[in-house]
Amino acid sequence: MEPPTYALGFDVYGTLVDPLALAEPLQALIGEQAVAFANLWRIKQLEFSFRRGLMRRYVDFDVCTRQALRYTQQVLGCQLPESDHDRLMEAYLYLPTFPEVVASLMALKAQGHRLVAFTNGVEASIRALLNNAGALSHLEEVVSVDDLRTFKPDPAVYAYLARRTGRSPGETWLVSSNAWDVIGAKAAGLRAVWVKRQPEAVFDPWDVAPDLMINGLDELPTEFARRT
Ligand code: LAC
Repeated sequence: MEPPTYALGFDVYGTLVDPLALAEPLQALIGEQAVAFANLWRIKQLEFSFRRGLMRRYVDFDVCTRQALRYTQQVLGCQLPESDHDRLMEAYLYLPTFPEVVASLMALKAQGHRLVAFTNGVEASIRALLNNAGALSHLEEVVSVDDLRTFKPDPAVYAYLARRTGRSPGETWLVSSNAWDVIGAKAAGLRAVWVKRQPEAVFDPWDVAPDLMINGLDELPTEFARRT
């Protein structure tokens, strides 16, 4: 019997592409604080999106990212001119994929799964980013929360992913390195893979477990081939 095929929604930042690669352009601007800057920027970007979702005060993810950038530079005491903000926002469109991503997408597509990007990001920005990184052509669609004007982990966005792929929630998998995203998908009745990219990453102890845990996307084709 052939293994089942699924709709797979890939989270973008942290799962397909590496937002901490921003430490490199930051290094040229602010030197040794670059890694701390990239980390705090990412944390605040997410926090702003969570809070805006809860408050129902939607602005798109690019706005969250730019406002998080302003916050981070103030906290770390680096006064960057507006032209540097523009340059860093531009760098956000040129993040690299993690090394195994493209080959893994090709292998999963060959197994017959439906592959889409599923993101908090604005569709046009994510298309540009994935195209620049060489991953867009391996995905059927970009499904963005922007269509609903709310953010992950609102249950509505996971239901929307299943609706867009035309599969039932139980046949739709989120693939994400973000534990909060995996928990959000499971709470909405989807299945979910946690990509534990860093050995020290901790899954939030919420009494919810991912259906699968892998260390990189290259493990996914074998895992799915094993299922009956
Ligand atoms: C994404 C961010 C939240 O949705 O990782 O791509």
